[in-house]
Amino acid sequence: MISDGPRQPVTPRVFVTRQIPEAGLVPLRERFSVDVWPGPLPPSHETLRESVAGCAGILSLLTDRIDVEIMDAAGAGLRVVSNFAVGVDNVDVAEATRRKIPVGNTPGVLTEATADLAWSLLMAAARRLIEGDRYVRSGQWHTWEPQLLLGAEVHGATLGVVGYGRIGQAVARRARGFDMRVLYTRLGPDTREEWATRVSFEQLLDECDFVSIHTPFTEETRHLFNAEAFRRMKPGAILINTARGPVVETAALVDALRSGHLGAAALDVTDPEPLPADHPLLRLDRCIVSPHLGSATHATRNRMAQMAAANLIAGLAGERLPHCANPEVYR
Ligand code: DGY
Repeated sequence: MISDGPRQPVTPRVFVTRQIPEAGLVPLRERFSVDVWPGPLPPSHETLRESVAGCAGILSLLTDRIDVEIMDAAGAGLRVVSNFAVGVDNVDVAEATRRKIPVGNTPGVLTEATADLAWSLLMAAARRLIEGDRYVRSGQWHTWEPQLLLGAEVHGATLGVVGYGRIGQAVARRARGFDMRVLYTRLGPDTREEWATRVSFEQLLDECDFVSIHTPFTEETRHLFNAEAFRRMKPGAILINTARGPVVETAALVDALRSGHLGAAALDVTDPEPLPADHPLLRLDRCIVSPHLGSATHATRNRMAQMAAANLIAGLAGERLPHCANPEVYR
């Protein structure tokens, strides 16, 4: 009998659902057979199903729904899902856990960049920067005016932080520089800072001039900001959302802005996302919308890519992921 010789180990296949920084792709290409979705838009769910067939690892983005169908399509060899985001609400984590598939995420590295963006939005909304820029560009700036585009005072105001995890705390820390009073709500245990006070959600709405959302999106936080919450907010209060769109009920926000009860909203995340160009929110002067840019700095996106790659590499080596959203899989 002729022997075929020792069998070559099969190189695991990995699907990356969009072009991410090379800092993440290089270590993957060194180890695996890697396919990267080349399009500027996310693959459709059907294309994703076809693309992951036979993959041992999926590196996904928050725009990809990684559900039972995708896990089934990948097949029994799927060993890790690594999400290029800290939020994992696009992944059916419970299903992954049931299948003992670890889900990686990228906490920590995007905390400061996202807090900076929340503050950019807060300042821009308070001081009407976008309206001012439009005013200048449209040729309306003829003189200094005593009552032109008057905004809200930031210094000394009260800031409410809803969701006091890493990003919420980073936002609160920055408020010290503005001598602000900071109130926060959180589900977890108390943190002991001198500059922030834990209160109920209702008290936070009653007392804050600025409310910044930093809670993850779960069934409990869906539409946390609804008509009732907006009614409770102080007249003229400003809402900032850099967390997830569905935490806010969009139609109720449109009403609260149209009625003039809310002073302004500044949103980096929306529901739906992306927001169509003819959406009612985009017809409101006192609403600023940015295209989900919280972590969008060169340094942060490179670090996220490296972390996502490290999670995927660990998963395929059968090691514990450095950052795992479902550590229950190891029990
Ligand atoms: C995340 O990581 O969850 C952000 O929304 C995108 O960086």
